[in-house]
Amino acid sequence: MKIGVLGAGTMGAGIAQVAAQNGHAVVLVDVNQTVLDTAKNSHIKMINRLGEKGSITQAECDQILGSFYYSTSMEDFKDCELVIEAIIEDLAVKHSVFSQMENIVSNACILASNTSSLSIASIGSVLKKAERMIGIHFFNPAPLMPLVEIIPAVQTSAETVEIVTNLISSWKKTPVVCKDTPGFIVNRVARPFYGEALRIYEEGIADFATIDWAMTSIGGFKMGPFTLMDYIGNDINYAVTESVFQSFYYDPRFKPSFTQKRHKEAGYFGRKSGRGYYDYSDGAVLPSPNEDPELGKYIFERILVMLINEAADAVFMNVTNAEGVDLAMTKGVNYPKGLLRWADEIGLDEVLLKIEDLFSEYGEDRYRPNPLLRKLARANQKFHA
Ligand code: NAI
Repeated sequence: MKIGVLGAGTMGAGIAQVAAQNGHAVVLVDVNQTVLDTAKNSHIKMINRLGEKGSITQAECDQILGSFYYSTSMEDFKDCELVIEAIIEDLAVKHSVFSQMENIVSNACILASNTSSLSIASIGSVLKKAERMIGIHFFNPAPLMPLVEIIPAVQTSAETVEIVTNLISSWKKTPVVCKDTPGFIVNRVARPFYGEALRIYEEGIADFATIDWAMTSIGGFKMGPFTLMDYIGNDINYAVTESVFQSFYYDPRFKPSFTQKRHKEAGYFGRKSGRGYYDYSDGAVLPSPNEDPELGKYIFERILVMLINEAADAVFMNVTNAEGVDLAMTKGVNYPKGLLRWADEIGLDEVLLKIEDLFSEYGEDRYRPNPLLRKLARANQKFHA
């Protein structure tokens, strides 16, 4: 199967690499020749590194590098059976390229988008044969992250879902099929990791370093929320939060934080700007956390139960099933444990009690317990059989 990838930036270059490493001829197209050259150099470097490490033979290196075709023209997609679009996140621009692509490729060619925040239905609306449209959402860096969210739109045929799911599995990735809803799985369920951490800070309960310490040392997460937001970039992370909030018709569960907004407005984007919640300039000393075990336990449990409540909602609203949520969060963002398995281990009645405490303390809709969590807890059941 010949694969096309449109956009050779961060995601497109990575997706093209994954396809080539799995034996496909790959056509990588970008409007910008400089970006294409950078992608090509990165492919040469990455594939040769695999050869040097002995992960692949020299012949395999040559074969993989020989399977890329770099171009500035979408006409070169004409023989592709699947094209994955990974260009700028702008619906009007995506509409324009999808209409053009449909006139180039065959009737059988599947057209996919790697969008993070646009609906697949809206992108596919410009196609004459919209049953071929699907979301294939990779995580950054695509060659390393196993999770791929597969998002059928209301227009997508069952056959398209099956072909794409089988293909992604054959690439030794973990496909999880989910509904075409804002944030899909990961970008929806992960919101409280940032939002509740910011809320705890805003209430003056703890500083950034203490919240990060609680989540890594007690919770076992690889990075604390503030370190992670600084790594992702506060501009990007704030934009995702705001987009999810708007897309959910301003559900208070997803309300963005002024603290993050002010950091973004100040240009405190994080590592890339030298300053975020922390100072990354040369010689700067990172602040020490307050390692009070009781405070740490409170912070960790409060953020965890909010994450579990959100994970429960994704299952309740049929975005995916419990297995799907747990796979998504462990394989897409490296959570130490599936959130719903974690909930089962703690005991759903205990998780529910903590959320009910927050709800009664604050009286805010943000803390309303999810109906599925409540139902299972009352019936003494679990998310996983
Ligand atoms: P990027 O800015 O690194 O790359 C986008 C590329 O598209 C650029 O090289 C640009 O020259 C090219 N481009 C723009 N318009 C074009 C056109 N009309 N025809 C051909 N090429 C065109 O962007 P990035 O980060 O790779 O994101 C791409 C898509 O992937 C977006 O939809 C984004 O939401 C999504 N995404 C991004 C993730 C990330 O962590 N960066 C993660 C998952 C999805």
